[in-house]
Amino acid sequence: MSDPVITAAAHQVLTALTSDKVPVVKTFFDRATFTATHVVHDPATRAAAVIDSVMEYDPAAGRTGHHLAQEIVDYVRGHDLKLEWLLETHVHADHLSAAPWIQEQLGGKLAIGADIVRVQDIFGKLFNAGTRFARDGSQFDHLFHDGETFMLGSIPAIALHVPGHTPADMAYVIGDAAFIGDTLFMPDYGTARADFPGGDARALYRSIRRLLSLPARTRLFLCHDYKAPGRDTFAWETTVGAEREHNVHVHDGVGEDEFVAMRTGRDATLSMPGLLMPSVQVNMRGGHLPEAEENGTRYIKIPIDRV
Ligand SMILES: [Fe+2]
Repeated sequence: MSDPVITAAAHQVLTALTSDKVPVVKTFFDRATFTATHVVHDPATRAAAVIDSVMEYDPAAGRTGHHLAQEIVDYVRGHDLKLEWLLETHVHADHLSAAPWIQEQLGGKLAIGADIVRVQDIFGKLFNAGTRFARDGSQFDHLFHDGETFMLGSIPAIALHVPGHTPADMAYVIGDAAFIGDTLFMPDYGTARADFPGGDARALYRSIRRLLSLPARTRLFLCHDYKAPGRDTFAWETTVGAEREHNVHVHDGVGEDEFVAMRTGRDATLSMPGLLMPSVQVNMRGGHLPEAEENGTRYIKIPIDRV
């Protein structure tokens, strides 16, 4: 379990980097799954990262699509960016990743949090994935550990382990911009659910407080938006300061027990995401579809009476 506050060393890095390193962020929003894919780049070197991309999937027909991924590839090429990273904040349960498809077109290293191995173990068993499904994270080019620093061109960045929604969630802080996956949503909507296998509302609270210990002006980029009641437009960017003041679930002053009671009660009312089964089977493989069977066709399995 990570320290609940940002370590002193990490804080030093963050304070230095949030002062003058301002990456450019362009967001692509998938209205079918309410997912925000962010393309972030360093204007000085054109080094870029794609965070949490989406492959379309029609579950009734079993058909995949790459329209949004193609838009991202076009944007990267059109702006003369050099794709260095494809970052996943976690094994998503509501959409399929397009990271391997984008990587084929543009290169870059595919990365996720090191605790992916725990998620692979849980879902490898659930889907009876067999011995050919490696549960060591080897489908990814890099596994980030908590507090690990890296560079996006000339911009310093740090990976933070923020478990709760899943055991392996990561946030990536790149300059003054933090890509926080499924932790906080917009202040008027609240927080991510914590009831998937391996989820933990108490861990989520601690991860969120850790993110909220970043400087108040830190830009936060979210993985999803569902519009809050009374809001007509989708939004995916806010700040630490705005979340601390206004987040309906976890603004300053909300204690851990109060949050856990609220989150657990709310999660009990939520149904499973429509794309849970295909998403998890593909994303636990780093965005690759399950291997083809002897007839050359790939299949998605549905475990009966297990979830
Ligand atoms: Fe998620």
